[in-house]
Amino acid sequence: MGDPAVVKIFDTTLRDGEQSPGATLTTAEKLQVAQQLGRLNVDIIEAGFPAASPGDLAAVKEIARSVRGVAIAGLARAFKGDIDAAWEAVCDAELPVIHVFLATSDIHLQHKLCISREEALARVRTMVAYARNLCPTIEFSAEDATRSDRDYLCQVFEAAIQAGATTVNVPDTVGYTFPHEYEALFRMLRERVPGMEQVTLSAHCHDDLGMATANTLAAIKGGARQVEVTVNGLGERAGNTALEEVVMALRTRPDTFGGVDTHINAQELLATSQLVSKLTGILVQPNKAIVGMNAFAHEAGIHQDGMLKNRTTYEIMTPQSVGWNDTNLVLGKHSGRHGLDARLRKLGHKLNAEQLQSAYGRFVALADQKKNINDADLVYIIESGQETPAAV
Ligand code: KIV
Ligand code: ZN
Repeated sequence: MGDPAVVKIFDTTLRDGEQSPGATLTTAEKLQVAQQLGRLNVDIIEAGFPAASPGDLAAVKEIARSVRGVAIAGLARAFKGDIDAAWEAVCDAELPVIHVFLATSDIHLQHKLCISREEALARVRTMVAYARNLCPTIEFSAEDATRSDRDYLCQVFEAAIQAGATTVNVPDTVGYTFPHEYEALFRMLRERVPGMEQVTLSAHCHDDLGMATANTLAAIKGGARQVEVTVNGLGERAGNTALEEVVMALRTRPDTFGGVDTHINAQELLATSQLVSKLTGILVQPNKAIVGMNAFAHEAGIHQDGMLKNRTTYEIMTPQSVGWNDTNLVLGKHSGRHGLDARLRKLGHKLNAEQLQSAYGRFVALADQKKNINDADLVYIIESGQETPAAV
């Protein structure tokens, strides 16, 4: 369903992401993040789990009322009470969505829910139909889908579609699957489940084995046209699929994905990442793809030389395309003469070959003692002819 060349971005930073230990946000903070997600141009914001607490219900309601031009989803277990709370929270949204979930793996059915497959199937039918009576857009998720019996999973999705689900989601709840397996699962569901062509098929991955982004991209190859992701990969345990990684993978490699793209305004990626990090207090690792401090930093001399000649030697996307000001050529003990010369020219010092050789010797001596060489150190090296830093 929908444009086959577009993958919808369902952002769950404010629900699955906020379930990350220590990531709790106030209503005002959630609203700030939701407004930024609007600027980023996500398709759906899952704003919370309204039955979880009165505070969560109030936050989702506030977001539904004030963030326009984007669908707002509320999560609900397959219970009337949860569905009523979700509807109360999202009913004022421009595009309200109730997201109903029920586990389908035998592990969850036997040990957590203590119900039979038949009971779960009946509950899917009645609760999806109940939700659909309230709201025109219903997502149904089969929790722990990747560890569920395949024939049973097909039956559950068929029942959900018949009962009125408009999106069906295939969560890898415990980050267990691998790309080839997940892609095959999507292909199988599209082939075997009647009515699947009329609904949106969605992927939702966790990163327990570091596979979340790869699995999500594999699902897109298998026919998923919605992906559930979080900013900075925030989420339970090892986290969810990182929004920024999926968006930029599609944009950087249209050859691999047949030009399938998202509606995301990628220049807002860095600002969104930094806002979420600031408000949750969860720092972004420096080597994090796209939004980490070092994602566009180059220190090695060979790399700096290549970058100065042509940036495509070591960069597959421009820093500006995701919101950074520029590439960062970091001067440290691995840097070479070309990198030093380029930075000195920026600082207004044009040296001849002999002067540069001598300055480079002093620079290397200082870099052996000091991790980061700043501009003040460089000016001091040039002006004093000594390697003692001017400012640390
Ligand atoms: O990981 C999961 O299974 C979930 C569902 C509630 C969609 O977050
Ligand atoms: Zn999840």
